[in-house]
Amino acid sequence: MPLNIAVLLSGSGSNLQSIIDKIEQGVLDARIRLVLSNKNGVYGLERAEKHGLPTKVVKHTAYDSREDFDAALVQLIRESGAEAVILAGFMRILTPHFINSFPDKILNIHPAVLPCFPGVNGQQQAVDYGVKISGCSVHFVDEKMDHGPVVIQAAVPGLHRDDAKTLGARILKMEHRIFPQAIQWLAQGRLSIEGRKVDVKDCPAPMVINSQEDSALVNPGLENGF
Ligand code: GAR
Repeated sequence: MPLNIAVLLSGSGSNLQSIIDKIEQGVLDARIRLVLSNKNGVYGLERAEKHGLPTKVVKHTAYDSREDFDAALVQLIRESGAEAVILAGFMRILTPHFINSFPDKILNIHPAVLPCFPGVNGQQQAVDYGVKISGCSVHFVDEKMDHGPVVIQAAVPGLHRDDAKTLGARILKMEHRIFPQAIQWLAQGRLSIEGRKVDVKDCPAPMVINSQEDSALVNPGLENGF
């Protein structure tokens, strides 16, 4: 049985696209029940519509409180039949009510090797700091921003002449690989949380990618197709 997911986004939706692609390729056993955006007119919604996926826009500005906004999201997600929530560039902090509505079933992607550079513009923060290594993380969501237990991380080089755009593009390529992989592990029931640590059942060994286009260290390693 595929994992029923809702994908929440606020922008271009390239991570949504990578999830759609892996589902269509038959390597990710999930079904997107709803794509939810807190902003009108973002490209992520267009991507969803191109693939015939149901979309909804819930503007946070239309609500008096974060609690009311989140309650509306929870209701729509429940009605869609989604059991898990995928935050793919969703730039809002979630309330305890939201988090407790989908226990151990909310994943977020962040464009840095957490706990470095949480919050907005992780790529710019990394460039400003001058790090030689940055990357991306998929983690379970808790009540603090970009904070919950880490499922998978990829490290990529930070180069002397990088700006947020060039570093961001290098990171994004890895985001598109580790996020669908983490969702697949969730779909397969292979993730268990022990305090801050996530155990991946039959955990693949760390993996080094060293091709002409990409170099990265990914842990746990990616499985076939990802
Ligand atoms: C991605 O880089 C994602 O990691 C980041 O937003 C971007 C969304 O891109 N998320 C965060 O910064 C969360 N703190 P996309 O809309 O093309 O998937």
